[in-house]
Amino acid sequence: MAGIEIAPGAPYATLLGLGSYRPSRVVPNSEIVEAIDSSDEWIRQRSGIRERRWATEEETLQMMCVEASRKAVEDAGIDARQLDCVIVATVSHMMQTPAVATLVAHDLGTEQAAAFDVSAACAGFCHGVAMANDMIRSGSARHVLVIGAERLSDITDPTDRGSAFIFADGAGAVVVGPSDTPGIGPVVWGSDGEQYDLIRSRQDWRDVITDDEPRMPHLVMQGNAVFRWASFAMAKIAQQALDRAGVSADDLDVFVPHQANMRITDAMARSMKLPSHVRIARDIAEQGNTSAASIPLALDRMKDEGEASTGDLALFVAFGAGLAYAAQVVVVP
Ligand code: UT7
Repeated sequence: MAGIEIAPGAPYATLLGLGSYRPSRVVPNSEIVEAIDSSDEWIRQRSGIRERRWATEEETLQMMCVEASRKAVEDAGIDARQLDCVIVATVSHMMQTPAVATLVAHDLGTEQAAAFDVSAACAGFCHGVAMANDMIRSGSARHVLVIGAERLSDITDPTDRGSAFIFADGAGAVVVGPSDTPGIGPVVWGSDGEQYDLIRSRQDWRDVITDDEPRMPHLVMQGNAVFRWASFAMAKIAQQALDRAGVSADDLDVFVPHQANMRITDAMARSMKLPSHVRIARDIAEQGNTSAASIPLALDRMKDEGEASTGDLALFVAFGAGLAYAAQVVVVP
């Protein structure tokens, strides 16, 4: 009987290109405080958010994915036809099926690339990068596009005091491809389903259609419990990602945590004792919390503003609903 042949993969994988899309509509705190009986000062102090971006009607999830991806593909110096796989990390694609990734792969002009969505909430982008790394090294793909994209404004209740000020929209993308040197460290990832209820849709679709006044199944969040878990547990996960990559905090150039809350970022940096030369992503101040999109958006801003450069060593750590989390060290494209 003939044996199965396996083509070898690349020795390593790396991020080859980066792109992002920020919706055009800037929404300052002053615009949302009345509906939630809050204040600009409270929101700034508790979350670090000054303003956020919400998508307009034309800025669909698909459109934002495609815009971010075109920039990432161009930045990588490849043609979209070289993409073997498109992964979209999102929780705000409004169709249960098919995956938005299939539309994105088509719009980009790939040659029928494999395409699927990943549901790991705010940790989805880092899950996608980990999968792309393994796919390239195992030989199932040479170039993988990983997109984090959300239109959370569609699933946010503007009158919910606990979440209306935090969530926002946008997209970020990276092209992952083969390399002779390691550009993506081992992923440290996991989930804690015991805390499933801490961030979730208020209802599932079966409840929505039987409701007397049907509403979109908005997100609800037990913010303070998530805050305490993330501030405490995620620094340990980030440290494990450093250890597994064989680098120390001293070796890092940039720290790009999920942009959940500026105070969580500060708490993690303190507990990891990050040296002062490590630049820290603070995109949340002007962008809000964009879940799966937040890390590539934040890294792209750092590159634009000269805080991160190609070849820098960066640490990603992401966490959110599930509770799902993932962290890895990468070389900045
Ligand atoms: O991205 C996925 C993962 N998500 C996260 O990581 C989010 C994590 N959580 C957070 O970022 C924070 O918990 C929030 C920013 C959402 C809230 O900050 P907090 O410091 O945890 O506030 P809290 O919920 O403990 O509320 C503190 C106080 C309460 O008043 P009392 O009981 O101290 O008198 C609340 O009633 O603030 C009050 N409060 C508000 N006041 C003004 C709660 N929400 C608001 C509001 N405006 N929007």
